[in-house]
Amino acid sequence: MSGMEIDLSGKVALVTGGSRGIGMAIAMSMAEKGARVAISGRKQENLDRAAADFKERHLQVLAVSANAGQAGQVDSLFSVLDRELGGVDILVNNVGTNILTPSVAEADEGLFDKLMETNLKSAFLASAQAVKRMKKRGGGKIINISSIAARKAARGMGIYCVAKAGLEMLTKVLAQELAPDRINVNAVAPSVVKTKFSQPFWSNESILNEILKTIPMGRIAETSDVVGAVLFLASSLSDFITGEIINIDGGSLA
Ligand SMILES: NC(=O)c1ccc[n+]([C@@H]2O[C@H](COP(=O)([O-])OP(=O)(O)OC[C@H]3O[C@@H](n4cnc5c(N)ncnc54)[C@H](OP(=O)(O)O)[C@@H]3O)[C@@H](O)[C@H]2O)c1
Repeated sequence: MSGMEIDLSGKVALVTGGSRGIGMAIAMSMAEKGARVAISGRKQENLDRAAADFKERHLQVLAVSANAGQAGQVDSLFSVLDRELGGVDILVNNVGTNILTPSVAEADEGLFDKLMETNLKSAFLASAQAVKRMKKRGGGKIINISSIAARKAARGMGIYCVAKAGLEMLTKVLAQELAPDRINVNAVAPSVVKTKFSQPFWSNESILNEILKTIPMGRIAETSDVVGAVLFLASSLSDFITGEIINIDGGSLA
């Protein structure tokens, strides 16, 4: 249908944690839709590998090393974006990490702080920087990568669940605050997606079988399953949608 295609040409997009997994799939799809794309990550070797993958597909990417949980590094990342790409229109807060953790009540403070920093504070820091630029540009799109764990307590992942629940409320609060500035803030919440991050779940057959019992569609997600919803939320097709969380879970929460 004419006028209904996703077209990101003329837009600048930053995907944090875009050097592999879900973030890289999102970043590549945005480049394919015409955006000028930047990715960030901590390890240079991961960024280099991602940049080579983009090149192989004849796509351009700006790959910048920055720890998303450290304010100084996030500030520098945005300075590079200003210098190289002239600002930002689309921010995907994709950085996240989960490690199997003891029960929340028994976790030590350092572990709690670390998981909050990577999964929640990272989105706060990048959003604050992006919003300053988006306001000057007359609008923008922020998309947070949450998880169904935000609304479904899971043993061994308790701190991650708490952080992702915070990320979903951050999504709604920012959406309300920034609506007058024409900045849409939404999130997607996948169930298990086949990436390095989730390898402990899908590489063990008995754990995988237990997970599959909870997914009506009978399979775990691929990164491509997440991309479509994120592209929609990054595009003008979703201009009147804000503060929304889209589950990408094969029916799990239903
Ligand atoms: N995979 C799943 O099953 C699943 C399900 C639901 C939600 N999610 C969410 O989806 C997002 C992406 O997950 P994924 O599975 O694609 O993970 P992944 O394969 O582990 O990739 C994570 C990416 O983030 C970067 N990163 C990690 N910590 C960082 C930090 N502190 N600062 C900057 N970059 C950092 C990594 O690069 P470096 O290591 O080089 O920094 C990498 O590029 C996360 O928010 C996760 O919670 C995943």
